[in-house]
Amino acid sequence: MSANSSVWNKTSWRDFPVVQQPNWPDRDVHEQTVQELSDLPPLVFAGEIRALKQQLALAAEGKAFLLQGGDCAEDFGRCTAPAVRELLKVILQMTVVLGYAGGKQVVKVGRMAGQYAKPRSSDTEMVDGVELPSYRGDMVNGIEATPEDRRPDPQRMVKGYHLACATMNILRAFTRGGYAALDRVHAWNNEFVKGSPQGQMYDKVARQIDQAINFMRVVGLDTDNIPQLQQASFFTSHEALLLGYEEAMTRQDSTTGGWYDCSAHMVWIGERTRQVDGAHVEFFRGILNPIGVKIGPDYDVENIKKLVTTLNADKEPGRLTLITRFGAKKIEKYLPELVRAVKETGVPVVWCCDPMHGNTYTAETGLKTRNFDDILHEIRSFFEIHWAEGTIPGGVHFEMTGDNVTECTGGGRNISDEGLRRNYQTNCDPRLNAEQSLELAFQIAEMIRN
Ligand code: PEP
Ligand code: CO
Repeated sequence: MSANSSVWNKTSWRDFPVVQQPNWPDRDVHEQTVQELSDLPPLVFAGEIRALKQQLALAAEGKAFLLQGGDCAEDFGRCTAPAVRELLKVILQMTVVLGYAGGKQVVKVGRMAGQYAKPRSSDTEMVDGVELPSYRGDMVNGIEATPEDRRPDPQRMVKGYHLACATMNILRAFTRGGYAALDRVHAWNNEFVKGSPQGQMYDKVARQIDQAINFMRVVGLDTDNIPQLQQASFFTSHEALLLGYEEAMTRQDSTTGGWYDCSAHMVWIGERTRQVDGAHVEFFRGILNPIGVKIGPDYDVENIKKLVTTLNADKEPGRLTLITRFGAKKIEKYLPELVRAVKETGVPVVWCCDPMHGNTYTAETGLKTRNFDDILHEIRSFFEIHWAEGTIPGGVHFEMTGDNVTECTGGGRNISDEGLRRNYQTNCDPRLNAEQSLELAFQIAEMIRN
């Protein structure tokens, strides 16, 4: 059976080969849990999902810019108000810088409120000579290296749902209230510029933003009472990996009759699960959310053409975002060919750069890391290649946190391999810390303006 030949429903993925699912110890318990989740309220609503799709349609045309970011794997233990607030804060700060530099609205999408499931290269891993099931994200099993903790437990999906709900709630509160006000966010940026070792590099852009905000006041705009300047629209996303969970969260919209995956506004298919005839593509083709697909160097051109026409059969702008992740050394070889192939299909897409997943390496200390300059290099190539091909560099996708972690090397404080040990916390891939994330925003701003 091929993934676009038959009638779709939210369970039709079950007739297709599925990869990267946990070995749930008891299938019946898993099915009961899917049923339990199906009866719980949606986390997001169809109207909001449509609003994001409209914003992404603008990004596809070059009239908006997508900023997607958050943890590689959210941690149940760190679902706290300060952690959510600090990550949101950095994303808002980056938004002001990128928005000013590009002269475009920035579409803000968190890897938040549901980024709890991870694909793994192997079902098991060796820890101190003992073979254990691999950690697959907090929605599946625990990270402790014990057989008990590593045992997949479907009730973790229910816990993940509730924590996603709590995260969503606090995100809604922070973005509706004065927390997201433009002048407040810009004041944080000024503090960052003052405190950053590379601050003088960013001072110029920061001062230009000051002037723009002052100008609004001078001409009599009452910035305190303009909702667009006081509130932020913020959306959620995650890799929709666990198809039982996503099926349970998929609901029919009462006003349009369409099916939406209400676990997040945007969901994406990972590099390891994008088989055209596989279960993930089958599931995704029928939901009406804006969707992403990660694409790394192992793609096959014909396969990608089938994939984009299957996932965006109606050629709807904003429906499909291609998130490329080649690595600084490979992007020049792989991106141009991909761009040309997709152009030939006539399917509109948002081109988004994930400069994280192709740039991972293991430092001498044994810690998995990424270097700031490699990340910046991949972004720079991404822009240059799209400009040369006549396509639109529509967004960026980061693994980042609002905390002061030391997981990626380089940046203004020039974190060294040795320095990684100071505050290395991630359960999965290394994230940019708050300063490194902002530095990238300022550097991208310079790049766009020149
Ligand atoms: C991720 O985004 O965390 C991830 C696993 O990415 P990819 O599918 O691109 O490897
Ligand atoms: Co990752």
